[in-house]
Amino acid sequence: MNIICLEKVDSTNTYAKTNIEKLADKTIIHTLRQTNGHGRLQRTWIDIGGENLFLSIVLKPSNEYKEVYSNLTQYLSVVLVKLLKEYDINAQIKWPNDVLIDGKKVAGILSESVIQGNNFKGMVIGIGININTDKKDLEKVTDKDATSLSVELNKTVDLKTFLAQLTEGFFSKYDEFLEKGFDYIKKDYINSACFLDKEVCVQMFNEKKSGIAKSVTGKGELVISDSEKEFVLSIGDIL
Ligand code: BTN
Repeated sequence: MNIICLEKVDSTNTYAKTNIEKLADKTIIHTLRQTNGHGRLQRTWIDIGGENLFLSIVLKPSNEYKEVYSNLTQYLSVVLVKLLKEYDINAQIKWPNDVLIDGKKVAGILSESVIQGNNFKGMVIGIGININTDKKDLEKVTDKDATSLSVELNKTVDLKTFLAQLTEGFFSKYDEFLEKGFDYIKKDYINSACFLDKEVCVQMFNEKKSGIAKSVTGKGELVISDSEKEFVLSIGDIL
């Protein structure tokens, strides 16, 4: 694992995608200030001040795209929830990969694949975690229900230590995860899921679907049902 630390960059994901040919497999791009971060469903990810984590993991596991790669964001959400337990924080996962504390978002994850022609060049898994942001700055975020580790713990968290723990946690079971797929983390994922048996609204590009969240399949898809039938969703975000 290599770590590239940048003082400031528009987006660690954009940097990783632009330079993917030159970057080795398992390179971490980390920055202290991100000026144009982006999120899922064309959202922005704002650097709200304070000391937060903005990083992207460059992965080049094969020359062809495999279905299991789409579950890497869920794998990372499980890794983060486990790490937060070590900090005595009980976090939850909102499908597919938002990490919340008492319903407030603490981390967002975005994966992007790089494909040139027919060639799969790799994946970039970006994560933003609110580490040391105070309440006042959190209120400036458009996504109102946000929190940070320092707010939850009432103390400052060492950013470097957290970065090392997160990336080590990610790579410790990464090979096994790629071999076994979502089933390998399904139990842990379900144990942290905050959406099951609840009425949810899922945003999928320009369409929304509402229903009761019934279950998560062995491929990480969300099963929802309305009064008429069941739907299996593989893309989207619970709002
Ligand atoms: C979301 O919740 O919509 C996902 C947010 C992902 C934000 C991270 S911050 C580091 C990396 N660089 C980006 O531009 N986005 C991701």
